[in-house]
Amino acid sequence: MDIRIFDSSRELAFFAADIFAELIRKKPDCVLGLATGATPLETYARLITLYEEGGLDFSQVRTFNLDEYLGLPVTDPNSYRYFMDSNFFSKVNIAPENTHVPDGNAADAEQMCSEYDRSIQASGGIDLQLLGIGRNAHIAFNEPGSDFSAGTHTVRLTESTIEANRIYFTESEMPRFAVTMGIGSIMKAKKILLLAVGDKKAQAVRDTVKGPVTPEVPASVLQNHPDCLILCDKAAASLL
Ligand code: PGA
Repeated sequence: MDIRIFDSSRELAFFAADIFAELIRKKPDCVLGLATGATPLETYARLITLYEEGGLDFSQVRTFNLDEYLGLPVTDPNSYRYFMDSNFFSKVNIAPENTHVPDGNAADAEQMCSEYDRSIQASGGIDLQLLGIGRNAHIAFNEPGSDFSAGTHTVRLTESTIEANRIYFTESEMPRFAVTMGIGSIMKAKKILLLAVGDKKAQAVRDTVKGPVTPEVPASVLQNHPDCLILCDKAAASLL
């Protein structure tokens, strides 16, 4: 596990975007694992700029997102499909059929989960997985206590995650359940890039990097990944 610390979230985002850009140039049909949340927005914005400047071609890129709320229409601005379409996919030349977000409205959620893992595998596997981190060190919606070997599955959200995300739900009720790639699916990615910004993430970053590998700190599993890079701003790294 390698760590790099940046003076600002902007510098961090530029660095992260460069890692994506380098991969896309080297392997135009690469498979990206993508994340929602506030943290990756600056990285997406930088990738959009690189695309607009003519330096990046997403036409063959394939993507799989980490998670989605259960039972929220994709037209709801809080759905992660909506988030990805509006903040990233609609602004670059990615083919919509190459973008995958777990279907939070599938009639058979279990079947959808196993199909999601199968289609990741059929794509050749994720080359580069982007992750944020929760204040409780969750990755995607894998909350403390999650099984390290799990594939994509449905989860009940913890109160701390509901609390952290409730601010976004002004019009609709915040769902209590979600579908998420499991830690087992995430750990299969060839390279992992975790972004942490702000002092609210400092304890989670410390526990992840310095603490024991334990399901109580889901992101600590990344200590076992052969190619994981953590990018922090100074505030998120303040307890290291
Ligand atoms: P954030 O969420 O980027 O909005 O802080 C990260 C997460 O909870 O995984």
